[in-house]
Amino acid sequence: MELVDLTLFLTGLSLTVALDNGLLRTPPMGWMAWERFRCDIDCTYDPKNCISEGLFRDMADRLVEDGWKELGYEYVIIDDCWVSKQRDDQGRLQPDPTRFPGGIAKLARYIHDRGLKLGIYSDMGSHTCMGFPGTTLDKIEIDAQTFASWGVDYLKFDGCYSNPVEQMLGYPQMSKALNATGRPIAYSCSWPAYLGGLPPNVNYSLLGEICHLWRNYDDIQDSWDSVQGIIEWFASNQDVLQPAAGPGRWNDPDMLIIGNFGLSVEQARSQMALWAIMAAPLIMSNDLRNLDNWATAILQNKAAIAINQDPLGIQGRRLVQEKSHIDVFWRPLSNSASALVFLSHRTDMPFLYHTSLAKLNYQPGNYMVYDVFTSSTVTRLKASTDFTVSINPTGVVMCFGHVTGAP
Ligand code: GLA
Repeated sequence: MELVDLTLFLTGLSLTVALDNGLLRTPPMGWMAWERFRCDIDCTYDPKNCISEGLFRDMADRLVEDGWKELGYEYVIIDDCWVSKQRDDQGRLQPDPTRFPGGIAKLARYIHDRGLKLGIYSDMGSHTCMGFPGTTLDKIEIDAQTFASWGVDYLKFDGCYSNPVEQMLGYPQMSKALNATGRPIAYSCSWPAYLGGLPPNVNYSLLGEICHLWRNYDDIQDSWDSVQGIIEWFASNQDVLQPAAGPGRWNDPDMLIIGNFGLSVEQARSQMALWAIMAAPLIMSNDLRNLDNWATAILQNKAAIAINQDPLGIQGRRLVQEKSHIDVFWRPLSNSASALVFLSHRTDMPFLYHTSLAKLNYQPGNYMVYDVFTSSTVTRLKASTDFTVSINPTGVVMCFGHVTGAP
């Protein structure tokens, strides 16, 4: 693995930070426990849903058997509440012995045997957000080594119970410690979310050098209000956030909640469309054992996934915010293609939005346009041709287009 010495002079301290190790050239895809299963540790009364090795094995089985893995969903990520209240006698973190009796290394083998990857959670601070033991500055090396020795492939490093100075030391130090293990481990930093997500408190060039992805903003909840609030925050701050993203460095608006209780079909499409346009991690938090067919179809939409995973890795932007409460988002893709999303914030009826590619800054030319969610519609358009899309309340129309010839 590559290790580049970048010396940072921060309040008189110099740190060595690790650079790009070739992981996550496209946004990570997978499944994470938190939004759906939270800190359910009641294995007596809720054995199928409690945070335990069985839950992660179940999700790994579903990823492999229900077609997720072949679409790219490969990480199975443990969140908070897995760790024992006590470190072992050598000072290492250990999993709760009743809920993870086989240990994490064995779970990692189960997951690797199925061609998947294992993620784990810790917290830069004295405790995790739910009050379990965290990783204090003096424990960073040993925790990185423990995770690597178990075969962990991804670390979500949260930031509860630490102050900004500890975070400024700890996040780069963990990056270096993970690199020093020699195991390629994707590194997800919650650091910016604890600093308000914006400069001058957050230094996005530093984050891009030490982390593969980072949580910028509030936790997602199971509601359209929450999803809409996140979309709005990312769009309002896109001048800062959009340039920070690229291969190996991604903004993280948090998990996909499609398949849970809070989103309608339209709203679920809206989350998928916007996460694709924003080059966001596609990390679901739902119950893969009990998904409605419509939710599976949205999450397994190949065109939306291809847009999300485009190798150029350029995050999209909001182009237009209409008084009619229609927003238009755009993302440039490889091979001179691009994606458009028309999002309605209306709550009345399907809205007829009239525009043309030329009005959306497209160059003159002939375009082939493909509708991502109806998949049947392919239209040939000149940039100057006016067209109309019908956008359902809180829903989207998402298109993928490319040039077919000169005007
Ligand atoms: C924080 C994080 C969440 C989740 C919880 C766990 O709130 O932002 O994603 O990891 O902690 O306690």
